[in-house]
Amino acid sequence: MINTRIIEFSDIVDAKNVERPMGHLTPIEGFKDVPFDIKRIYYLTRVPENTIRGFHSHKELQQVLVCLNGSVQISVSTPYEKEFITLDDPAKGLYIGPMIWREMYNFSPGSVLMVIASEYYDEGDYIRDYRTYCEEAQDFFNKQKQEEE
Ligand code: TYD
Repeated sequence: MINTRIIEFSDIVDAKNVERPMGHLTPIEGFKDVPFDIKRIYYLTRVPENTIRGFHSHKELQQVLVCLNGSVQISVSTPYEKEFITLDDPAKGLYIGPMIWREMYNFSPGSVLMVIASEYYDEGDYIRDYRTYCEEAQDFFNKQKQEEE
């Protein structure tokens, strides 16, 4: 879907000691593993069952969502398309670019959703009203299409 994609990170399983597994290591570097300079990280933990979070879009912010433990479902949409993604692998990230409406739900007990962001927190970059979002997103994607043509 436009402005969204799955990023596969390195999953380093150090097999120095076959008798004693040493687990997985995933490095994430700005401009290498994610397509922006990392300015902020936050994470969602202890989200109660049946909670839906998100319900907003960002005008410019780019984010990568990584589920470090458990699983969580994400819906991403524009006025034109919608996709549902399950995140349950710490070595995979969901990139979400500008002007994508997102909702996060079905957080499994003990799940940890980490978000890597391209900018510092700025409430002014949020669009929290769905109707306003649809209007602004239509303009945004129409302009993007015209520029491509
Ligand atoms: P919000 O982005 O609406 O959370 P979600 O999309 O997961 O439902 O943020 C929830 C609250 O936390 C809101 O009052 C703003 C605050 N907040 C910060 O202060 N800094 C941050 O980096 C983020 C992401 C949120």
